[in-house]
Amino acid sequence: MTNTDLHQALADALWKIYRRAERPRPWTLGDNFIWRDPDFTGRILREHLDELDGAASRVSAERTVQIEWLWQKLGLRAGDHLFDVTCGPGLYAVEFARRGCLVTGLDINPEAIAHAHDLALSEGVAGRCHFVEQDVRHLEAYRGANFDAALLLYGQLSAFTRQEATRLLAAIAESLRPGGKLCLEILNQDWVDKQENSWWFTDDTGLWGDGPFLHLGERFWYEAEEISVERYYIIHLETGQTHEVLLNDQTYSIETMQSMLRQAGFHSPDFHEDWDGLPLYDAEEWVVYVATRL
Ligand SMILES: C[S@@+](CC[C@H](N)C(=O)[O-])C[C@H]1O[C@@H](n2cnc3c(N)ncnc32)[C@H](O)[C@@H]1O
Repeated sequence: MTNTDLHQALADALWKIYRRAERPRPWTLGDNFIWRDPDFTGRILREHLDELDGAASRVSAERTVQIEWLWQKLGLRAGDHLFDVTCGPGLYAVEFARRGCLVTGLDINPEAIAHAHDLALSEGVAGRCHFVEQDVRHLEAYRGANFDAALLLYGQLSAFTRQEATRLLAAIAESLRPGGKLCLEILNQDWVDKQENSWWFTDDTGLWGDGPFLHLGERFWYEAEEISVERYYIIHLETGQTHEVLLNDQTYSIETMQSMLRQAGFHSPDFHEDWDGLPLYDAEEWVVYVATRL
């Protein structure tokens, strides 16, 4: 690329940003697509595995205390069949398999699923693990699967629209045996930052790129819909290539989520704020629901 081409590409990028819609409509860039965009999936896997940063998956010391908590709260035993919905690279699933569970894990990121396979093999539990690359918004094949328990961890439900979330909860209920339990972790609505804001930074490594880039971010809060949106423009300075990303978080009050869980086919959904005081760096940002299938 010549210098002139690069300067033109950078100028085009800046004009595109200048002409952006002032307030983006949630979900208008389609899915939260970065999870399967080949430009991102490998870098996201790196984030999942980063032991210094819990951005995509929590670090191992935190997972260890969560896994013990989940084991107790879900009443799991060796031989139980666990459904890990959005399992990422299998960091939880493989640990439950090590405790004797049979685990089915689904995730949309092919590189995360490949890692989960490899991890199960290296831990000697491949025979108890079944990992599938799949969009969890289409769970029809798992109706009647009779899982003993299901996990939906680290907030992914919020990245789906309210309608998708409603369908997903019902589909998980249908995949569980009567009496089977779901553990759902979502953002605590009270903790979601509703302050509209903008920021920028530069870097040359991390989730957004492996070369010098400028990251421009804005946060929006949609009060009536209870949705938080972050819009990022990432301008790659060596090519002028620009990515526009919308991260949408549909938030729910505790009452709303309990009612959604009941409508989905669960009874007595209880909830735990702050992960019951477990030592997680961001524990206060989350509410964990444990619900039992009717
Ligand atoms: C915040 S990460 C949590 C991963 C895992 N539960 C953990 O805590 O290690 C969210 C996960 O959801 C997956 N994901 C996003 N959209 C998805 C979809 N529509 N279907 C399946 N997986 C999806 C991502 O690939 C990512 O692995």
